[in-house]
Amino acid sequence: MLSVDEYKIAFGEDWQLSQFWYTTPFANRLAESIYQICPDSSTNVAFLCCPTGFVAFQHLYGPRNTTRLLEFDQRFSVLAPELFVPYDINEPDDFPDSLKCSVDIAVVDPPYLNERTNQKLAQTLRQILRPNGKLIILTSKSVEPVLHEIYSEAPLGPLRECALVVEHGRLANDFACWGSWNGAENFGEEFAEEY
Ligand SMILES: C[S@@+](CC[C@H](N)C(=O)[O-])C[C@H]1O[C@@H](n2cnc3c(N)ncnc32)[C@H](O)[C@@H]1O
Repeated sequence: MLSVDEYKIAFGEDWQLSQFWYTTPFANRLAESIYQICPDSSTNVAFLCCPTGFVAFQHLYGPRNTTRLLEFDQRFSVLAPELFVPYDINEPDDFPDSLKCSVDIAVVDPPYLNERTNQKLAQTLRQILRPNGKLIILTSKSVEPVLHEIYSEAPLGPLRECALVVEHGRLANDFACWGSWNGAENFGEEFAEEY
């Protein structure tokens, strides 16, 4: 898999699709933090609307055929055709049967900062996450009240704000990261001294 820097050269941000890539150090910190909560290589990790996270994880720890990228932008299918799943939040029930109740860790960066987008994502997540699965959501603090309403019941919630500090290259919005499991507050805490 490409490194995050190579990926950013190959794939420019399409702002019409609300694409704002993470900084390379942050993408790698996110991948390291996810790796630390994966019990083993059979852990199914699904990245929804989070291509940079997928690239960092596969670059550092792959190839792992238990990883999936669910994305609307078909450009990313070339990264790993067998791991790419075409996904449109407007068709939240439209995903392969094989994904049903199969995902151990879902990593989500919703494309739009509103309630409707999160409701649709939650509709998908309720179907693909295992009952003991973990949700990691990276989004703007501006939607936090909505998040707690929508992602309220296991395995989607209740959400706890994580220690991991989210960084984008070209986005000033105030982002944070939330996790749905007991102890999610500690997710990314080993990087605290780097900020
Ligand atoms: C806010 S960006 C998150 C990107 C993340 N910061 C990263 O660096 O990987 C949202 C992602 O959702 C995707 N997206 C846009 N519209 C979508 C749709 N209708 N359904 C699913 N994904 C969509 C975009 O292509 C983009 O990759």
